[in-house]
Amino acid sequence: MADEIFVSPKKHGRIMALLSGRGSNFIKIHDAVRAGDIDAEIVLVFSNKEDAPGLRIARERGLETLFLNSKLYPDKEEYDREIIRETRRREIDLICLAGYMKVLTPSFCDAFKHRIMNIHPALLPSFPGLHVQQKAIDWGVRFSGCTVHFVAAEVDMGPIILQAAVPILRDDTEESLSARILIEEHKIYPEAVRLYFEGKIEVHGRRVFIRE
Ligand code: GAR
Repeated sequence: MADEIFVSPKKHGRIMALLSGRGSNFIKIHDAVRAGDIDAEIVLVFSNKEDAPGLRIARERGLETLFLNSKLYPDKEEYDREIIRETRRREIDLICLAGYMKVLTPSFCDAFKHRIMNIHPALLPSFPGLHVQQKAIDWGVRFSGCTVHFVAAEVDMGPIILQAAVPILRDDTEESLSARILIEEHKIYPEAVRLYFEGKIEVHGRRVFIRE
């Protein structure tokens, strides 16, 4: 069977950001939105952590924020169903995971196919999961980097949109490598979101092509 082809919509987009921590990637996307580089607005910033610094920054920037306490839901399915309801209610076009450290349920991923992006601090499909900068150093790979990809039910495995490589230096620590990778994350994530709403992202099965 031929691969299904998806083309991102050229439109003024409605974005929801999901974060669990400091939110520097969300900030860079919001900066690009404010600068007019991305034709979109951030409609909601959601977190599973009430005290996430990124949530506070979003509030300070005048954005709508929402925290839901997962302990008040019987299971992950119910929790994600509530987020899906909030997403639909606001007619969100694109969900940007920006350091959201909770794995989305397969039903969430399926409900928003090609409409959820994630940034990961490694060159996927190498080093999925956590503490990947340290793992890259320990493996002795010469390059790591970061990946923006669409989110699919399999963790860290959806179609790859953009990547940036970062060399690993002899004296690198987890902190130093993470800091250099983060600089690249801050470039490629806003870029991927910009391309999305310019209608330039074309997905053929697993492969992504950027339209000129
Ligand atoms: C970023 O390095 C991002 O790539 C990583 O968490 C950090 C969040 O930083 N995400 C993952 O590891 C997801 N698997 P931020 O809150 O400053 O954007």
